Amino acid sequence: MDAEKAITKVQELVYEIKVNQVMVTDVITVSPHNLMSELRVLLHDKRISGVPVVEGTTLVGLVSIEDFVKCLSEGKMNNLVRDRMSRDVITLYDDEPLVRAVQEFDRRGYGRFPVISRENGALVGVITKGDIIRGLLKRIEIDYHEEEIHRYRASYFFEDIIADKTTLIFQYKVTGKDFSRAGRTSSGLKKTLRRMGIPPKIIRRIAIATYEAEMNIVVFTDGGEITAQVTPREIRVEAVDSGPGIPDIKKAMEPGFSTAPDWVRDLGFGAGMGLTNIRKCADTMHLESTVGKGTRLEIAVQLNGAVKHDSGDHH
Ligand SMILES: Nc1ncnc2c1ncn2[C@@H]1O[C@H](COP(=O)(O)OP(=O)(O)OP(=O)(O)O)[C@@H](O)[C@H]1O
Ligand SMILES: [Mg+2]
Repeated sequence: MDAEKAITKVQELVYEIKVNQVMVTDVITVSPHNLMSELRVLLHDKRISGVPVVEGTTLVGLVSIEDFVKCLSEGKMNNLVRDRMSRDVITLYDDEPLVRAVQEFDRRGYGRFPVISRENGALVGVITKGDIIRGLLKRIEIDYHEEEIHRYRASYFFEDIIADKTTLIFQYKVTGKDFSRAGRTSSGLKKTLRRMGIPPKIIRRIAIATYEAEMNIVVFTDGGEITAQVTPREIRVEAVDSGPGIPDIKKAMEPGFSTAPDWVRDLGFGAGMGLTNIRKCADTMHLESTVGKGTRLEIAVQLNGAVKHDSGDHH
């Protein structure tokens, strides 16, 4: 999600979500007849900055930590809450949209607002900025998951195809040493798979593996070709180059092994983790190479929930 989209999403949500969906409902309250000294435990131990004062179910005031400190400094801790609380309390209605709460927080700079039932005026909750943020994050996460599931179900490409056998082939040329175009193949393939309704988790694995293969062609060779074959059962990606080849495949596969030159490392590559990442992402992986002739890497990811396992004839 880019920043612009995220903001619009939040703006949309603060109009949609109601105060009563994020407020805290088990509110700690005091009676106007409590002594100020009795607030100590609440304010200190529970670390709350203000407590609603309630008579029956009706909110009659709010007593804050400032009121408490002032009272303490005057040595009047035997005062009643009634005499020290503020009475004109800004409240929110439980059925108001969050945007109202956000406005009040902006305008007043208070830490919390009591929430009142519009029906009977009773205190039903308290809302803080933290509650708003938690509520928003939760909704964004839920929406995101639903969107992912929805996208997959709604438009799974292969559902609309009637054939005994279907294979879609996507071919990409990869130019060696050209970092300005590096990453094009993997991001292009990713977009295509997304359009086809391939599950996002599968796409992520394919995209990472393809990116690493693409980068190896860019870094170590003068160019090559990446081919993706998509069937209803699996996605297969083949990366072929006619570069220098890999003398010791077993060694190249080891995490951290890299022959990347300094100028490549300066660009942030060459950790020696590419092949390791590919192996992690793929259900199967085959790497073969002949020095002086080139390298061929083939990976596959199963579409129908196949269990991931390592394989590979690493010559
Ligand atoms: N297509 C290729 N042609 C020639 N050598 C390769 C090729 N792919 C990988 N290698 C060799 O295998 C080594 C390990 O590759 P790997 O992708 O794991 O790490 P890296 O590319 O060096 O670093 P990173 O991928 O973390 O940026 C490389 O340093 C290189 O020596
Ligand atoms: Mg690499």
